[in-house]
Amino acid sequence: MLDQFKRDVHYLRLSVTDKCNLRCIYCMPESGVARLRHEDILSVEEIADVVQACSACGINKVRITGGEPLVRRGIIEICKRVAGTKGISEVCLTTNGILMPKFADELKTAGVNRINISLDSLRHATYNEITRDNALDEALIGLRVALETDFDAIKVNAVLIGGVNDDDILDLLDLTRKYKLDVRFIELMPIGECADWASSRFVSAQNILKLAPDLKEAGTDGVSKQYMLPDGLGTVGLIRPISSHFCPTCNRIRITAEGKLKPCLHSVDEINLRGLHGADLERVIRDAIYGKPKKHKFMESSPPRNMNEIGG
Ligand code: GTP
Ligand code: 5AD
Ligand code: SF4
Repeated sequence: MLDQFKRDVHYLRLSVTDKCNLRCIYCMPESGVARLRHEDILSVEEIADVVQACSACGINKVRITGGEPLVRRGIIEICKRVAGTKGISEVCLTTNGILMPKFADELKTAGVNRINISLDSLRHATYNEITRDNALDEALIGLRVALETDFDAIKVNAVLIGGVNDDDILDLLDLTRKYKLDVRFIELMPIGECADWASSRFVSAQNILKLAPDLKEAGTDGVSKQYMLPDGLGTVGLIRPISSHFCPTCNRIRITAEGKLKPCLHSVDEINLRGLHGADLERVIRDAIYGKPKKHKFMESSPPRNMNEIGG
């Protein structure tokens, strides 16, 4: 359906847990987060109801996120229920890849079409520094298994952190020479943990074009501007929430694991969906979509949540 600014909102980012098996420095505090209790997060049944109501309001694409969605108990059942909802034509999942070997086949069978894997570095020391874990090899196995499973597409997300993973850019680009995947460089957004980091850590994704001047433009894909290396099998994407606002074409809403609808990634406003059913649930979702704010305000203030609770 159209929002008040005539944007066609049809994409739901659904967080199914705030838990994660990593603790990326821009996402979570070192000590971890106070975990939500099981009864505080939407049950599989509640998720199914909410997705059905969203579908009635024009949502046709659902991205399952977290935290790390693959640590959520019942994740396969959730994917099945979402994929089986009338009106939902695309189900995607964003993961750090570590549990892919365990779940890839089941995700595919459950109806998940596409997978995005967060991988900020291909170097052990840097990966450890960013994720506070020594799990690069597992994440790479996860990526390989995802590529070998018959998903429609695999994307790699690398968040750019000035002075931390600048050295990785060329190696990450190189993945697109070896594999048919999309490597996307994402500008770090000042949310939660990294809200007050030094400005030197926030680097423009335009730097990629300086490092690899042979990248050729290849259109757009959602929030990502696409490029290709002359000898690339896959594509390169630049996601620039900071240096280039994509709010005018934003097509998405978010729902947290606790069942709070956030009309914008940056919303301080959260609309509780728990306890609502049928026509009431639909009405609240419709109103929230219609009232989606015009643009984010990262540069002015930070939302009160960490990224693991919002789902990216
Ligand atoms: P596709 O369906 O493959 O296009 O995925 P996606 O890019 O929508 O999702 P993904 O989970 O891979 O997110 C990639 C990056 O884009 C993450 O850093 C997200 O935080 C960021 N992102 C996604 N949606 C928005 C948005 O509405 N606003 C902003 N500012 N950033 C977003
Ligand atoms: N800025 C940009 N991207 C972020 N992600 C998590 N936190 C941030 C942030 N502050 C990314 C993750 C994942 C995606 C869902 O969001 O790395 O790829
Ligand atoms: Fe986990 Fe993703 Fe947050 Fe890293 S960015 S701690 S992988 S939820």
